[in-house]
Amino acid sequence: MEQVLLPPVGDGGVRVHMLAAPINPADINMIQGTYPILCPLPAVGGNEGVAEVIEVGSDVTVLRPGDWVLPIDACFGTWRTGAVCEEDDLISVSKDISLLEAATVFVNPCTAYRMLHDFQTLTPGCTLIQNGSNSAVGQAVIQIAAALGLKTINIIRGRPNCAELIEELRSLGADYVITEEEVMSSGLCQIFEEVPKPKLGLNCVGGLSGGLVLSNLE
Ligand SMILES: NC(=O)c1ccc[n+]([C@@H]2O[C@H](COP(=O)([O-])OP(=O)(O)OC[C@H]3O[C@@H](n4cnc5c(N)ncnc54)[C@H](OP(=O)(O)O)[C@@H]3O)[C@@H](O)[C@H]2O)c1
Repeated sequence: MEQVLLPPVGDGGVRVHMLAAPINPADINMIQGTYPILCPLPAVGGNEGVAEVIEVGSDVTVLRPGDWVLPIDACFGTWRTGAVCEEDDLISVSKDISLLEAATVFVNPCTAYRMLHDFQTLTPGCTLIQNGSNSAVGQAVIQIAAALGLKTINIIRGRPNCAELIEELRSLGADYVITEEEVMSSGLCQIFEEVPKPKLGLNCVGGLSGGLVLSNLE
């Protein structure tokens, strides 16, 4: 822990107090220096989180004290108590969602949303297939896809408590949850008697697991 004095907000600045910030895998990769984005040093860790606006400069037009805000760009450094930044560094978020939802909406659910919208035109009834389906992004994909009326085929790795995980993902809205081992041994023919072949495949693993996604596309 290091104590750093915050500068005054000035005319265009905003002072925020961090309320909650997650640790995402990419945050660790950044610290390791293995992520494609590397922050200029010295840097504070953490790229996602929700903060409360405490004070705004006289030129700040949109944000107000009490607002909840999210940093827009990577390298903000959310693992800290407070920060002074520009208004443009932040986007406000509704207080209708919970604090934990606000703290974790930016990285994983937004990624899932973009992947479901940017690469294929998917209409209700279309199918998508993904691996790593129990990942944070995968769980967001399941929920957003279900809300859009899309059918999801969700590949997971086999494990001792598989039934529990399958039940959990189904409760989020997953249509089919199947292990990599089952896909390799039996294929997906039975599922394709019920739903069309996937127009979209999401691969967050690579290698053999990525091949299972790729080889079952429309
Ligand atoms: N905007 C972006 O570009 C962006 C943002 C967020 C995430 N992502 C990417 O999205 C993916 C998921 O991220 P996340 O944070 O949601 O992940 P996460 O919650 O940490 O989950 C990791 C997933 O990968 C699976 N996995 C790990 N090693 C595997 C292997 N050898 N074979 C098969 N499955 C394996 C895990 O399965 P087990 O449970 O079986 O271990 C788990 O489902 C990552 O590729 C990440 O880089 C991109």
